[in-house]
Amino acid sequence: MSELRPSEILLSEEQIRKRVAEMAAAIRRDLPNDVHVIAVLKGAFVFLSDLIRAMPGHVSLDFMAVSSYAKGTTSSGEVRLLKDLDTSLDGRDVVIVEDIVDTGLTLTYLQEILRARNPKSLRTACLLSKPSRRQVDVKVEYIGFTIEDRFVVGYGLDYAEQYRNLPHIVVLEAQA
Ligand code: IMP
Repeated sequence: MSELRPSEILLSEEQIRKRVAEMAAAIRRDLPNDVHVIAVLKGAFVFLSDLIRAMPGHVSLDFMAVSSYAKGTTSSGEVRLLKDLDTSLDGRDVVIVEDIVDTGLTLTYLQEILRARNPKSLRTACLLSKPSRRQVDVKVEYIGFTIEDRFVVGYGLDYAEQYRNLPHIVVLEAQA
């Protein structure tokens, strides 16, 4: 029986710190006034906390929680809303903050339900993207790193609720 365990470091703390600061600057350039950030729980919480602290000026926050009905390390495509927003999006410049875009099904679902709430603008920031796994063409304005089709954990990302606390991003691999 093989077990999945973290193996090589894919992205170091330093690489992540630098890229997150660049993403914060890019978002602020596009939205110089108020930014309303919506973080997708749970995976995005570490990325969110670094991203907003690298962003000067006015930032407000809200949270959503979704479950993607994962089957092992792959998503089933079904998305369920577990926690909705506390405040209205009407007329606001909104940025969705997500950990990773894989098939794109979760983000497509989120963008659809948030767009229906009449924000002034809606953009998306994802720390990671696995384009080779995409099933739907979803627009993501800010992407931190494009990675290959490998299951990764750390920096908020989990496998069975473990490894979110790792400060870097590592590949999960089968070990005998
Ligand atoms: P999508 O709907 O297939 O794009 O999946 C997005 C969600 O699947 C992410 O928010 C993660 O929770 C999870 N996910 C996809 N790939 C990974 C990975 O490599 N590590 C950890 N979680 C992942």
